[in-house]
Amino acid sequence: MAVVLGIETSCDETAASVVDDDFHVLSSVIESSIDQHRAFGGVVPELAGRAHVATIGPVVRRALNDAGLDAHDPGIAGIAVTSGPGLIGSLLVGLSAAKAYALAWGVPFVGVNHLEGHLFAPLLEQSDLEWPLLTLLVSGGHSLIVLQSGPGHHEVLGETIDDAAGEAYDKVARWLGLGYPGGPEIDRLAQQGTPGKLKLPVSMTGTDFDLSFSGLKTAVVRATQKQRDVAVADVAASFQAAVAEQLLRKLRRAMEKYEVRGVALAGGVAANSALRAGVIRLAQEFGVISHLPSMVMCTDNAAMIAAAGIYRLKSDGPSPMELSARPNWQLEDVT
Ligand code: KG4
Ligand code: ZN
Repeated sequence: MAVVLGIETSCDETAASVVDDDFHVLSSVIESSIDQHRAFGGVVPELAGRAHVATIGPVVRRALNDAGLDAHDPGIAGIAVTSGPGLIGSLLVGLSAAKAYALAWGVPFVGVNHLEGHLFAPLLEQSDLEWPLLTLLVSGGHSLIVLQSGPGHHEVLGETIDDAAGEAYDKVARWLGLGYPGGPEIDRLAQQGTPGKLKLPVSMTGTDFDLSFSGLKTAVVRATQKQRDVAVADVAASFQAAVAEQLLRKLRRAMEKYEVRGVALAGGVAANSALRAGVIRLAQEFGVISHLPSMVMCTDNAAMIAAAGIYRLKSDGPSPMELSARPNWQLEDVT
């Protein structure tokens, strides 16, 4: 059975994983430099890049060892590495490492789009995936609604016109004096509060499936300045309800327009309790299967990159050694 090594370094996670061509995860190692960024309220690119340089070698070695492979001569079929989008200095560390290993071991490597990687994550946990599949991909850097007719075949129906959903969570958390990243804490508080106590608009941009969150963040700031007596838990609950409502309304719109057999969540915000509950309800209502990956598959990892790489190596073949990082590589441009 052929196995592929995946490498992911697009943001603050340094990750490596070995996956076989039946999409079984043989190992998955994730190290994060998040503790170094907390004090700054966001990922500091310079610090992230330095951390990747220090960590990439040991992380790859551990992933190979955990999969029972010889780290000097692992006998793998290829290497998949995130080549964009992401922080340029961070991407270059993973890409350079992948090229060096490819040369040393005499194996092909392929550059993978990070967002396409997220779309492959459900395949690693659920073998009963139903196509066509509608995926809501929401993270700290991206928010998209994607229609997939099969693995590797996707159409972006809509995306955020300003902030990503996770970014809005992090900014509102910062305004409320909560820690970074803010999503988990707002989600926790929201479950103790009452939605609607803070009067917020649900943003519905004109175009069919596009999303928008920056107006909502500003609305939270304005409303909390006006309604000073609203408890933090109620602010969190009101904000969370407004985010979920926008995302679920758009998803419903897409399900009404396109006949799909499954609906999936991906990205760090897929951990959100309101979103998960809403997607399960929506799937039941439309009689389709819901795919809610485990947390470790929602957030950045290298197994999903290896999975996308297995597909790309088969369909497109290896990348050239000259391949450069593409910090702004759009999912629409992956064909
Ligand atoms: O995918 P991810 O780990 O990193 C990238 O952005 O690529 O996503 C992190 C984002 C952060 O903005 C964080 O606040 C958000 O996901 N997040 C959540 C929850 N858990 C993490 N947002 C809402 N509810 C959560 N439970
Ligand atoms: Zn990601």
